[in-house]
Amino acid sequence: MIDKIKSLLNEVEAFTTQTTDELEAFRIAYLGKKGKITALFSDFKNVANEEKKLVGQEINKLKNLAQDKVEFLKSQLVTQRTSSVGNDLTLPGEPVFKGSRHPISLVKNEISEIFKRIGFTISEGPEIEDDWHVFSALNFPEEHPARDMQDTFFIETNPDVLLRTHTSSVQVRVMDHQKPPIRTLSPGRVFRNEAISARAHCIFHQIEGLYIDKNVSFADLKQTLLYFAKEYFGEQTEIRLRPSYFPFTEPSAEVDVSCSLCGGEGCNVCKYTGWLEILGCGMVDPNVLEASGIDSSVFTGFAFGMGIERIAMLKYGIKDLRLFFENDQRFLEQF
Ligand code: PHE
Repeated sequence: MIDKIKSLLNEVEAFTTQTTDELEAFRIAYLGKKGKITALFSDFKNVANEEKKLVGQEINKLKNLAQDKVEFLKSQLVTQRTSSVGNDLTLPGEPVFKGSRHPISLVKNEISEIFKRIGFTISEGPEIEDDWHVFSALNFPEEHPARDMQDTFFIETNPDVLLRTHTSSVQVRVMDHQKPPIRTLSPGRVFRNEAISARAHCIFHQIEGLYIDKNVSFADLKQTLLYFAKEYFGEQTEIRLRPSYFPFTEPSAEVDVSCSLCGGEGCNVCKYTGWLEILGCGMVDPNVLEASGIDSSVFTGFAFGMGIERIAMLKYGIKDLRLFFENDQRFLEQF
């Protein structure tokens, strides 16, 4: 018995491994239920009484050695796995670079949230459109000079296929498929054939709103926009409406907000007027309702639209619109 214990002691002492699988096999072979060391304990009852003390001590020694060996090899394997450069656990970790949202998305989401709180849904539609959804259904008569207000990208071989110049086209699609009451917001990318400069681009983003129900009035429009201006630019913000023209709304207006930078005193951002122009709006023209099969003698509505880049430029003090499209990480990282 003593000899057997001695030989097992030597085996355990000599054992080493680089893999957790081998280590586990070792543990089972020696310390497992049917392991060699466990078997010694059952043989122990056959040992003569006068030898019991010595043999007992030796078996315990063997068992402790085997257990220590397993623990030691286990900790060594873990260390090797977690440190790719040697075993230096004090080296600083690799930096994790976190992305951030594009400022256009940030502004779009913030505006959407403000309108969602008063019951607006979000609707989206195609960027490649047809004449009906971008112009005709919105009361732009054919050959009407108003079509020149928005320089359009057409497909040469088929002038009925074009890139949308505004997201009002999405609202036409909503009116086609939904019965009033309608309260929806259409954010999205739009395209206009314009020379690229610090103030204009051939691609930009809009967010347009549409509300159609019984008894919707100009007062509702004004109050909704005042609510938006105060939520977005701050409680002290005031708005002013100036008469304007859009084929799809009558009456129409441009909306200015009091300059949030100078509080209306006058500064170079508001060009010393105290006001910043932010959106166009008006009461939906009855022709537009009828074009989508909505009875204009029962329902009325208002619509508004704004450029997201413009709002973002005002919000973050960005002076050049081209920055939004260049994807320069040094710019994007700041948001
Ligand atoms: N669609 C208009 C534009 O792109 C904005 C607008 C929307 C104006 C709704 C009035 C009402 O210029």
